[in-house]
Amino acid sequence: MPLVCVCSPKGGVGKTTMAANLAYALARDGSKVLAIDFDVQNALRLHFGVPLSDGRGFVARSAEQYDWSQSILTTGGNIFVLPYGEVTEEQRISFENNLANEANFLPRGLGTVLNYPGLVIVADFPPGPGPALKAISALADLHLVVMMADTASLSLMPQIENHRLIGAPLNTRAGHYFILNQSDNRRSISRDVTAFMQQRLGSRLIGVVHRDESVAEANASQRSIFDFSPVSAAAFDIELISKRVISLLGISVGNGEMHTMLRSQ
Ligand SMILES: Nc1ncnc2c1ncn2[C@@H]1O[C@H](COP(=O)(O)OP(=O)(O)OP(=O)(O)O)[C@@H](O)[C@H]1O
Ligand SMILES: [Mg+2]
Repeated sequence: MPLVCVCSPKGGVGKTTMAANLAYALARDGSKVLAIDFDVQNALRLHFGVPLSDGRGFVARSAEQYDWSQSILTTGGNIFVLPYGEVTEEQRISFENNLANEANFLPRGLGTVLNYPGLVIVADFPPGPGPALKAISALADLHLVVMMADTASLSLMPQIENHRLIGAPLNTRAGHYFILNQSDNRRSISRDVTAFMQQRLGSRLIGVVHRDESVAEANASQRSIFDFSPVSAAAFDIELISKRVISLLGISVGNGEMHTMLRSQ
């Protein structure tokens, strides 16, 4: 059950887009993938064709439903989605309190999926520190920190280096790596920040993704970048990142039948 957390100290940098397309890339490679949304924006599901009007999700039911896998939606392929869901403010606060105060809350909720052999889990988080990221970090195999090639992202690097995202080093298993998103060679600030990050992060920079309109267009049409624009620069960049993730996690394909675990939705 390799578990990858996609996070960032910065909002709007492409975490959800990256989590979704990484899930698609890993599934294309032959893994069964579960994409989990820990952000109240509930946007991850939209990358997998779940209709806007479908407000189902695990957070609303997490108080009484111990096993969150019961809220998994199937997408028709090798990808499964566990949406956050549309929740009231009371439900969100109660969920966050449970995450913060009950050590067993998250391991119990995710128990079934964490124990599913070979299932690769990609989790998307809201920006900055938060109870979900903190609670899941001990279970995570890999943290991917998404940054943009701009000075705002650069100014938040100390948040990672000083362990302010979860109050501890980000990952003690496969480690934590950075993705620099929306790099644009035509802009000098983007070139400069990209070069600076490359130097500062060294091998911790797992990939640079070009700013590419087809990414936003793929999002808008609820498709993966590989399906929407397979020869785009971003598709190539994200494919490369997924290969590195596969190698870091030591993923091998040919896993058990996920469908047997899932109730039909
Ligand atoms: N490489 C890219 N090229 C062009 N546009 C991109 C790229 N990556 C992401 N975007 C666009 O940037 C916007 C923000 O992306 P996204 O919602 O994934 O960010 P986020 O970090 O998840 O935001 P939030 O902090 O609100 O959760 C979206 O409109 C998305 O289509
Ligand atoms: Mg997001």
